[in-house]
Amino acid sequence: MKQTIANVLDDSDRAVLLHPFTDFAAYKRSGGRAFVAAEHIYLTDAEANQYMDGMSGLWCVNLGYSQPKIVRAVTEQLERLPYYNSFFNCTTDITIEMAQRLIAVLPEGFNHVFFTNSGSEANDTNIRLVHRYFDLIDQPRRKLIISRKNAYHGSTIAAASLGGMSSMHKQFTGLPYVHHIEQPYAFENAGELDEAAYGRAAARLLSEKIDELGEANVAAFIAEPVQGAGGVIIPPQNYWTEVARICSERGVLLISDEVICGFGRTGEWFGCQTYGVQPDLISFAKAVTNGFQPLGGVAVADKLAEVLTTQGGEFAHGFTYSGHPVACAAGIATLDIYRETAIVEKVRQDTAHHWRKRWGALIDHPIVGEARTQGLFGALELVRNKASRQRIDADHRAAIHCRNAAIGNGLMVRQVGDTIISAPPLIISREEIDVLVERLTIALDATAGHYGLNLR
Ligand SMILES: Cc1ncc(COP(=O)(O)O)c(C=O)c1O
Repeated sequence: MKQTIANVLDDSDRAVLLHPFTDFAAYKRSGGRAFVAAEHIYLTDAEANQYMDGMSGLWCVNLGYSQPKIVRAVTEQLERLPYYNSFFNCTTDITIEMAQRLIAVLPEGFNHVFFTNSGSEANDTNIRLVHRYFDLIDQPRRKLIISRKNAYHGSTIAAASLGGMSSMHKQFTGLPYVHHIEQPYAFENAGELDEAAYGRAAARLLSEKIDELGEANVAAFIAEPVQGAGGVIIPPQNYWTEVARICSERGVLLISDEVICGFGRTGEWFGCQTYGVQPDLISFAKAVTNGFQPLGGVAVADKLAEVLTTQGGEFAHGFTYSGHPVACAAGIATLDIYRETAIVEKVRQDTAHHWRKRWGALIDHPIVGEARTQGLFGALELVRNKASRQRIDADHRAAIHCRNAAIGNGLMVRQVGDTIISAPPLIISREEIDVLVERLTIALDATAGHYGLNLR
């Protein structure tokens, strides 16, 4: 075979790397795609192919790939104070500033932050904080956590236990104190119920689970405002207010996992604001540094912070890189750009409307059974028959075909089950949204053609 940069990289990769969420054996056989550069919202691979990034990397590069201000901040911080830790009563000036800057954009009533390196560690930290809180307020039996099927909360043992992906649970033993309820997936589960009735029914599953487990044993409910990796599951409008009401009536803490939804994705700073609820804990990561540095954490509501900071001894938890000064420098520069460009407001007032119009119009395609959006999230349900919602092929092969066709046509999107999902950088322009939808339409046409369903 001719030795191109692309296949040299590919062969070297396969020789030494085990990749996350990858079938190792299949990858050894067939390899993948090596990226060598990125600019604005475009990626370049080793064969010089260009792709529009319809996924913001892994839901993190909300401001695109060209942000020299973040690069400068990281470089300067590396020169000034490249590392110090936050253990044992120590801190750094930049870590404090990052916490203050976050508090300025968090919903009201959040005035404390615990830093981690990732979303997974943020959710591990949630469990530790919740257990500690209930111990301190003398309700030590409250240890159980309720989560949802098909949720993704990360991949450490604790975060994966919180997650509800069956493929992950098959490969490890989950924590015994985590329990799951059904996700609010209207397209699959609503049946004849209208949106409001389905929202109430889906939320009722939480109160039924609390009854089953015994209210005095339940510590917290964790959920993503919009379930991202599970297939961009956008809940009925009333779902979250119902859930928040149930949690508050039952003394159960509400954890909003904003690792994807945070920082503008839903059209507000945080997804809980889009759905009008006040959680007790907020997990964040990813777009907090625009993906340029690993940083995550938990924002703690005053009700909990008051107890945690006035009672008890040492909180025996933390990471070597909690509050890493370089990651915090990247975070401050990222928050500066969010503010200077008013990007969240722009998404809410403009970009999301164009996105809804263009993505929503894909419902007219013969193999699209639903085209839903929230902020700059989009999902398409692929079907053979719109009325019966019968899927096109077994094992999600049609959606895989469509995803591959989109990538082949210069557009990065993802497939989850029979759903095609997208979450482009928030800086995407109206014209670029038009191009994204055009490229996706070509992939849908190719899929319909492949299955003999192109009825247009
Ligand atoms: C909602 C949510 N929570 C947590 C995580 C885990 O974050 P990380 O991969 O940074 O550990 C993710 C990752 O995609 C996520 O989508």
